[in-house]
Amino acid sequence: MIGRLNHIAIAVPDLAAAAALYRDTLGAKVSAPADLPEHGVTTVFVELENSKIELLHPLGDNSAIAKYLERSPDGGMHHICFEVTDIIAARDQLRAEGARVLGNGEPRNGAHGKPVLFLHPKDFCGTLIEIEQI
Ligand code: CO
Repeated sequence: MIGRLNHIAIAVPDLAAAAALYRDTLGAKVSAPADLPEHGVTTVFVELENSKIELLHPLGDNSAIAKYLERSPDGGMHHICFEVTDIIAARDQLRAEGARVLGNGEPRNGAHGKPVLFLHPKDFCGTLIEIEQI
């Protein structure tokens, strides 16, 4: 069902510092910040040859990333994102296997304007999983 690894997301307390770290220290190509109010995050994408890193910073009052950073003030890995070709078929198959889909189960547009869903970390070895239709 899952295809390529689309990105790994890292929650960061200082987005500009994290972007500079990836750009200057690690020598990667880094995007400008983009606000995603629907998801309560500001994102910066780090472009790698074979995948991407999504740097996440809280946006607004009720951001899940703010809660994450309260528990992990230095930041840390927040989720991994796999590509799927048909997100509704993937969702239905995952539910049939007993996996929990977060929210109301209806895909929302993610950071690339493509439909995404999140899967409960307790069902996936303690890792929050995003699936994105490509
Ligand atoms: Co993501």
